Amino acid sequence: MPLTSLTGDATETAAGPRAARRVAELGGRARVCGLYDSVGAPIYHDLATHDDPETRALLAAVRSTPGPVLDLAAGSGRFTMPLLAIGREVTALDLSADMLALLRNQLDRTPASMRARCTVVRGDMSRFALGRSFSHVLLGTTSLSLLNESGRAGLYRSVLAHLTEGGRFLLTVMDRGDSGGPDETAVRVTGSGGTVYELYEHWPAGADSRTVTLLPADPPQDGSPVTVCTDRVAVLDLARLEEELAASGLIVTTRLPLSPPGERHRVTLLTTEASR
Ligand SMILES: C[S@@+](CC[C@H](N)C(=O)[O-])C[C@H]1O[C@@H](n2cnc3c(N)ncnc32)[C@H](O)[C@@H]1O
Repeated sequence: MPLTSLTGDATETAAGPRAARRVAELGGRARVCGLYDSVGAPIYHDLATHDDPETRALLAAVRSTPGPVLDLAAGSGRFTMPLLAIGREVTALDLSADMLALLRNQLDRTPASMRARCTVVRGDMSRFALGRSFSHVLLGTTSLSLLNESGRAGLYRSVLAHLTEGGRFLLTVMDRGDSGGPDETAVRVTGSGGTVYELYEHWPAGADSRTVTLLPADPPQDGSPVTVCTDRVAVLDLARLEEELAASGLIVTTRLPLSPPGERHRVTLLTTEASR
């Protein structure tokens, strides 16, 4: 995973000055982790949403055709759980054992009939062989940006090998909607457990990556360690991405914008099919 370090110069250049200042204020209390490791995964899960435009769009797209669904980079099950709830058979694949443990916890609390329709696989989306095919393969949460060029090539190969005749690969991608605005933004977000976090994003216009930093807004005053999660993800140009998909044998058939006009994060749901 493309995790970044918040120490030394990397703090300034990758995380952005405001996030770096907040981390510096914590001094030796800061415990830096990734978003999907054993420390970061529960925090990521606390913030995951289930009723949002992306989930609704993916569910609507999948509903049009019956058949099993492969949820790539499934994490703690943000799409897997609603897909199971609408009666689909789902294979959830993720690289992080910690994220999958959170998914398994949720499955343990669901009715056995629903749980029985889910297969959980720890694996790398850039290189997988499941020995079966799916009417839909999903890669949501703009997680394509977690892979480098060779990883993406491996992903496309693996996806094509797992699509049924007429099957579709659905993926969300993000590009930057405005050319202006600050390089670094900060918002407060509240997790389902009630914790308030500060979420910083450092995304200079034209940069080939953006860095997300997440930390509690009100750390305890007792000097105890404070978890700081960070992740640095690639920024992909949409037109080049479509060329890359086409060259790999995946043709984009629809493009559905998911973000309101004027948003800095312009998320698009691409539907693709094998061109052969
Ligand atoms: C942004 S999270 C999305 C998780 C989930 N889809 C959601 O919306 O909550 C990205 C996920 O990709 C996983 N991941 C990162 N690199 C991966 C890889 N090479 N193969 C499979 N999963 C990967 C991480 O472990 C993490 O769970």
